[in-house]
Amino acid sequence: MSIKINYSFKSGNKVPANLIYFVDEDFSLKRLEKIISSSEFSYISDLLKNSDLKKNFLVFRINSKKTIYLVSIKKNLKTSDIESLGAKFHKYIDYKKDKDYFINLDTINSRIENLAAYFLHGLKLKSYEFNLYKSKNNEKLIFINVIGSKNKITVESIIRFKALEEGIFFARDLVSEPGNILHPDEYAKRIRGLKKNGLKINIYDEKKLKKLGMNAVLGVGQGSIRGSYLVTMEWNGLKNSSKPVAFVGKGVCFDTGGISLKPAKFMEDMTYDMAGSATVVGLMKNLALRKAKVNAVGVVGLVENMPGGNAQRPGDIVKSYSGKTIEILNTDAEGRLVLADALSFTEKKFKPKFMIDLATLTGAIIVSLGSEYAGLFSNDDKLSKQLLEVSEKVDEKLWRMPLHKNFDKLIDSKNADMQNINYVGGAGSTTAAQFLQRFILNKTPWAHLDIAGMAFSKYGGALNSGGATGYGVRLLNQLIEDHYE
Ligand code: BES
Ligand code: MG
Ligand code: ZN
Repeated sequence: MSIKINYSFKSGNKVPANLIYFVDEDFSLKRLEKIISSSEFSYISDLLKNSDLKKNFLVFRINSKKTIYLVSIKKNLKTSDIESLGAKFHKYIDYKKDKDYFINLDTINSRIENLAAYFLHGLKLKSYEFNLYKSKNNEKLIFINVIGSKNKITVESIIRFKALEEGIFFARDLVSEPGNILHPDEYAKRIRGLKKNGLKINIYDEKKLKKLGMNAVLGVGQGSIRGSYLVTMEWNGLKNSSKPVAFVGKGVCFDTGGISLKPAKFMEDMTYDMAGSATVVGLMKNLALRKAKVNAVGVVGLVENMPGGNAQRPGDIVKSYSGKTIEILNTDAEGRLVLADALSFTEKKFKPKFMIDLATLTGAIIVSLGSEYAGLFSNDDKLSKQLLEVSEKVDEKLWRMPLHKNFDKLIDSKNADMQNINYVGGAGSTTAAQFLQRFILNKTPWAHLDIAGMAFSKYGGALNSGGATGYGVRLLNQLIEDHYE
C-alpha cells in the first residue's frame, strides 16, 4: 500500500471525504468554528462530552461520505512525538474505501515549525510495505492533500522529508530483498544506479580487491559463486576538497555462517545481514536528493558468506589490507573481517573527519539491548556525545558500550596478529568492536554501531509496520544537519 502526499493541493471539485484537523490537548473546537458547518460543530461538541479526551485521535462520522478526524496535539510534544503521532494515524487510513484525505494546516497551533510535515513523515514511514513478490498485489494509492493557508510547510522541509523518505525506503527495499535476488553482483549494480542522483560511484571488484590486498573481505566471499565488492559513494556537496565525513557498512548479502555453518532455524533472517550497508546507501541517496551541504563518503563491503569447495576454513590465516594478519577461528564472525578492510581503506583513501560504521555484527548485542537500542562503541567522546544527542532527537536510540585494552588479550592469537573470535566467551559485542578498532590506523574519530537488533522488526515499531526498519538513516542525517552542514 502506498501513500502519496500532495503538498500543493488547491481545493478543486473533489468532495472532501476525510478531513484531518488539529486541536489542542483539551479537544477545544474553537479553531474549527469557521471551518466546519454549524451543524457539524454542534454534533461534534455534543459527542465530545462523552469522549475520552486522553486519546490522540477522535473520529466523527458525519455521513457515509464524510469523516472528521481530530488530532490532539498534547503539550510539550517533541518533533519525534509528532512523527509517532502521524504513524499512529496510519491505522485510520482505509485502503479499501478512501482515496483522499485532507489535512488542514489552518487548525495548527504549535511552536513546532512544519508540524504537519513531521506528522506526514511519520505516517508515510509507517505506511511502507514490501510486497514485490506477492502476485496478488492490489497496490492501492491514498492521497493526503495538504490544505489551508496558515502554517504552510516550507519548501525546504518538503525537500528534506521527501529525501529522507526516499533514502529510508531505498534502504528498506534493499534489506527486504531475498538473498537469491540481492546478491553482491546485483547489489553493486543497484548502487551504480545512484550515479543519476549525482553520487560518484566506484566499484572495486575481486580483481581490484586482490591488487589492493583486501584479503579479509575476499576470504569471506570466496565460497560464493557471486563476486565480492567494495563500493564507494561520494557526495561532494561543498564543491571543495575539505575532508569528508565517512560512513562504512557491512553488506553480507546472506550469512550462512560459512563452514562454521549456522543452525537452520532462523537462518533465513540472515538476508538482512547487509542492513548496515543499506543504511549507508540510503543515507547517501538522501544526501544527494536534498543536495546536502556536506562532503560525505559511503563505503560498503558486499559479500555472500557461503560454505563450498572454495570456502574459507577455520584456522585459515589472511593478511588484511592494513597489513595485519588474522587467524579465522570461526567463519561466522565474518562481518568484522569485511569491516576491517573497509575501515582501513576508508581512513587511508579519504582521510575523513570521522568514520561511523554500521553493522548487524553480533547476536550478543541483541542479548544486551534487544530491539530498543543499537550499541555504540567509539574511540571519541565528542562524536559519541553528538550521536547520543541526535539519537534522542530522532528517537533512533543508542546505548554506549565499552571498549578497553583489557579486552585485547581475548582476541590476540598465537599464530597471527589476532584471531576473529574470543574463545574464552563473554563480551561478544565488545570484543568484535575491539577487533574493528585495530583497523583504525591513524586515530581517526570512529564510532561503530552494532544494529543487529534494530535492522529488522518482527512486530513493527513507532515508524515502521514490521520488516526492514531503515534504522540509522534518520539518525545520521540528523547528525550531519546538526553538526556538519
Ligand atoms: N550476522 C551475524 C550477527 C547477527 C545475529 C545479526 C543475529 C543479526 C541477528 C554475525 O555475522 C555472526 O554470525 N556473529 C556471530 C559471532 C560469533 C561467531 C563470534 C554471533 O553473533 O553469534
Ligand atoms: Mg556471521
Ligand atoms: Zn553476519
